[in-house]
Amino acid sequence: MENLIELGYLISIISFLAGLKFMSSPKRAKLGNIIAAAGMVLAVCLTIGISISANIPRTNLLVLSVAIFFGGVAGKRIEGKVEMTKMPQLVSLFNATGGACALLIGIIEASQNPQSLFLQFCLFVGVITSGVAVTGSLMAYSKLSGKKLRIENKNTSIFTRTILLTLLFIPALILTNIYAGALGPIVYVVAILSLVYGILFVAPIGGADMPVIISFLNSITGIATAFAGLVYGSYVMIVGGIIVGSAGILLTALMCKAMNRSFLTVLSGKIKKGSKKASEKEQIIQEISLSEVALELSYSSKIAIVPGYGLAVAQAQHICSHLQKLLEGRDTEVHFIVHPVAGRMPGHMNVLLAEASVDYSYLKEMEEVNEEMDSYDLSLIIGANDVVNPAAENDEESPVYGMPIIRTHHSRKVVVMKRGMSTGYAGVQNDLFEMDNCFLLFGDAKDSLTQLVDQLKLISN
Ligand code: TAP
Repeated sequence: MENLIELGYLISIISFLAGLKFMSSPKRAKLGNIIAAAGMVLAVCLTIGISISANIPRTNLLVLSVAIFFGGVAGKRIEGKVEMTKMPQLVSLFNATGGACALLIGIIEASQNPQSLFLQFCLFVGVITSGVAVTGSLMAYSKLSGKKLRIENKNTSIFTRTILLTLLFIPALILTNIYAGALGPIVYVVAILSLVYGILFVAPIGGADMPVIISFLNSITGIATAFAGLVYGSYVMIVGGIIVGSAGILLTALMCKAMNRSFLTVLSGKIKKGSKKASEKEQIIQEISLSEVALELSYSSKIAIVPGYGLAVAQAQHICSHLQKLLEGRDTEVHFIVHPVAGRMPGHMNVLLAEASVDYSYLKEMEEVNEEMDSYDLSLIIGANDVVNPAAENDEESPVYGMPIIRTHHSRKVVVMKRGMSTGYAGVQNDLFEMDNCFLLFGDAKDSLTQLVDQLKLISN
């Protein structure tokens, strides 16, 4: 029986790894998700099976069943309701619950008083990381939901906060050790201090850095789970935790690179400010009408569609996919060019385009096409702003300077679809709008695209 259970856990681990491998390709990502989820279901079933055969009290089994039932129902309800633009908040909540599970395991295991120094070490690291993940993620959730928090004092740097808290940590541990002498109370103190530290850790961070910190907290949750797995003696938790931990770190590094921010600057909460004069300058732009854009689309033989956050806001992915199919039907070569940090979360645009059944062969990475942007007759920018701002390459004073961009300004003509003259996430004016080959089509992206499709159909007939 024991061998069978070990084999079951091994299958779970393999399915996590296979799922991850599949997820690296957009075409097979859905299947990857199903495989990994099946592995997780198997692991949960095995754990319940072990608990039943180990004769754990019936009340524990009841608690377990109720928790699984409500967790499942809540998951199903959330899955159907959450808007794409609210995904970062959801990830934060998941991070917090993952961290809370690891924290509970640490606290419960501490009451068993493990004697091995290695286990004690794992227990402390697990409790510290999970405590930080819980409150850090809840803070991130509140900030992303637009709640103004009173503890957002940016005058004390994250490093000062860390040192202050460490100074508090040491005497607290020594005192608890002297007076209580047992592992349990010490772990409680460590857990409380870690929870406080989680709040202080995320407090100074904000704006465009939030998704980076969410990804980092995701990684911390993974690390906490891996350490909880070591204490608990669960290989599935160890492997699952390592996968989440490393994926989170890789994603954090990738986002920092794509936004040209160092991780330490993100942690410090400092945001590079541009010169006030530049941000208040009135821009001279050229407006274009719907019928003119429809004509441009019909005459172009190679078109780049650049989606951005506005596409998600307008929920224009389906009509955008429709436009692409219409153009393809007219023998126009169409590519979707996706910036790594377009939108508000990693892979945001890829998810939207997949939802609208855009074939992945039409998707191009920024690096793939940037050198040949002059071969495009038209760049149609749909709700993107910062990721196409030439100031990132030309204006050293700009807060976005150094961020890699899609060089749409090199294409023959550029049409930007947006509602007004609002800035993007970085809060800076876009130099592209003033260029000779750039034209602005004002209106909600979904409405404009719907009308463009209608006009293009008329031209085709
Ligand atoms: P943004 O620069 O944020 O620009 C979005 C544009 O969409 C705005 O110009 C807005 O202008 C327009 N818009 C909004 N609603 C619209 C609608 N219904 N119809 C038409 N247009 C609409 O977007 P981006 O280019 O995708 O850049 C992403 C930004 O987020 C970057 O600064 C990036 O660093 C930051 N960020 C991204 C991530 C990830 S991982 N993706 C993480 C953190 C930060 P109007 O209001 O005038 O219409």
